[in-house]
Amino acid sequence: MHNTRIIDNDVFWVGTNDKKSPLFESVFPIPYGISYNSYLVLDEKTILLDCVDKSGSSVFFENLKYLLKGKKLDFVVINHMEPDHSAALGDLILRYPDIKIIGNSRTIPMIKQFFDFDVERHALVVKDGDEISTGKHTFVFYTAPMVHWPEVMFTFDRSNGYLYSADAFGTFGTLNGNIFADELDFDRDFLEESRRYYTNIVAKYGPQVQAVLKKLASLEVTALLPLHGPIWRKNISYYIDKYQKWSTYTPEEEGVLIAYSSVYGNTENAVNILAVKLAEAGVKKIAMFDVSVTHPSFVLSQVFRFSHLVLASTTYNAGIFINMETLIHCIAAHNVKNRTIAFIENGSWAATSGKMMKEVLSDLENTTFLDNTVSLKSSVKQDNIIEIENLTKAITTSFKAHGKQTIYEANTINEVKIEPEAFFKITYGLFVLSAAKDTKSSLAGNHSGCIINTVMQITDDPKQIVIAVNKLNYTHDLIRDTGKFNISVLTTSSDFDVFKRFGFQSGRDADKFAGFEEHCKKSNNGLYYITRDTNSFFSGDVVSAIDYGTHTLFTASVSESAVLSNGVSLSYQYYFDKIKPKPAPIQKSSGKNVYVCRICGYIQEYDGELPDDYICPLCKHPKADMELQN
Ligand code: FEO
Repeated sequence: MHNTRIIDNDVFWVGTNDKKSPLFESVFPIPYGISYNSYLVLDEKTILLDCVDKSGSSVFFENLKYLLKGKKLDFVVINHMEPDHSAALGDLILRYPDIKIIGNSRTIPMIKQFFDFDVERHALVVKDGDEISTGKHTFVFYTAPMVHWPEVMFTFDRSNGYLYSADAFGTFGTLNGNIFADELDFDRDFLEESRRYYTNIVAKYGPQVQAVLKKLASLEVTALLPLHGPIWRKNISYYIDKYQKWSTYTPEEEGVLIAYSSVYGNTENAVNILAVKLAEAGVKKIAMFDVSVTHPSFVLSQVFRFSHLVLASTTYNAGIFINMETLIHCIAAHNVKNRTIAFIENGSWAATSGKMMKEVLSDLENTTFLDNTVSLKSSVKQDNIIEIENLTKAITTSFKAHGKQTIYEANTINEVKIEPEAFFKITYGLFVLSAAKDTKSSLAGNHSGCIINTVMQITDDPKQIVIAVNKLNYTHDLIRDTGKFNISVLTTSSDFDVFKRFGFQSGRDADKFAGFEEHCKKSNNGLYYITRDTNSFFSGDVVSAIDYGTHTLFTASVSESAVLSNGVSLSYQYYFDKIKPKPAPIQKSSGKNVYVCRICGYIQEYDGELPDDYICPLCKHPKADMELQN
């Protein structure tokens, strides 16, 4: 029986899932299975984007038959010829004998290698940048050699912004009904497997991935449709940023991966002691794997995740222990870079595995090898404890040298006092933060904005900023859902109206931009920025979000920025002194306490002290901003 899912209008998922195969490519364990995605577009001419693995071909053909309803299948695009996507091609030709196969000059010879049918009769060869229209849709083809085979190409649908990205942006793991990344918990259920997929299948070709990312940078991509795993139609920049990191061999986490092999448990004893000492020194992120137990594909994935590697191996047959040797060669073969690496070796008569591991890895670029190899003779002795302590120190010193925040001062028991006034010494600005549900629509409620006071540049190259946004704000939810925002920097010429407009009403109830159009423009991301009483604006693409209870801290890469005027940036202090209206004298009544919100001036009478969870009903600021009037 057919099993399809609509993606949008005339675009359908017609792929399959494989939970039965224990291994992918006969080598990588897939405990959560894998999906083989195929996409069908029912335009005036019908077009299929890739096929599926032989494991799912019967349902795949039922899917096509069901959706085509007797119509001809005009085209099949072969973005990737590897059999996990093309195995069904031979049968497809038998069922749809007039079909044209769209591929590039490398695809067609490869089809001939795998199949015996008359390929030339069906072939429609395209070059980089060529287009084919099927009616409403226009497909543009971009070659993407070595992501993951030489014939790979991506297909971009210019009419809706869909990018059919072959293996890129794929992941291990089946699609269990939910085929969109935004309708499942990607970080919880797919991120580990997605990293493992990338690092083992594609990572060797990081420069090629970089080349393709640059080639695609000018396209307005609205959705990523990979051949494995979920489709991305929201917060695409989050996943592209992961690819940016992985393909540049940039560690995702400042932390220590310890991979070890241990025949009788003594090397294991040493790495456990090291892990405790690292933890006591304040290292929070430590991962540890026995390479004889855990498949190297999982460990390689963690190699890409962490900044520091400790590789510990028994000396075995005058070489590196078998499973560790596999991992070491795996690291070398995937051209890992930008890491700090240390070794622990063991040998009852000739402990040389540390030296040999280093030799295999010696060509890794931009890699620091710590000179503090721990050398065990059979088991951990007191001298080794000193070596382990020295290695711990070398690792933590290396973190500090890189200015990373991974090292925390442990066991500090000084009395901690927080003086709120100290925070007022930090120069807060005031900003209009804007976002939209649908940038293409001007309907009320699609665009919204709020006032925030926390914007900070955190890196210069790439340009990245962080913003803190109250979770009660509607704008917060828009950013969470779309991953995009604009910041407009207010100046001292601002009047109180802009604060009333954006700060003291909710975007859920009011169209904040209504009647304000002449004071706004749209930036290239389709969002409004404010042109009146502002001196600059920034467009941000969210790369990470951290939940801090009442607020979310969004880190974003800046995609656009411009200076709008020479006005002086508005500080919090200036706002209080010169812009916020002074409250009228308060008439106390009925013996209740009177509180005035220092942010918006809201007056709250209350019998007794305000509760700790009080929130100003107007501007949503907490009890700390409510001043008791005497
Ligand atoms: Fe999913 Fe390279 O095949």
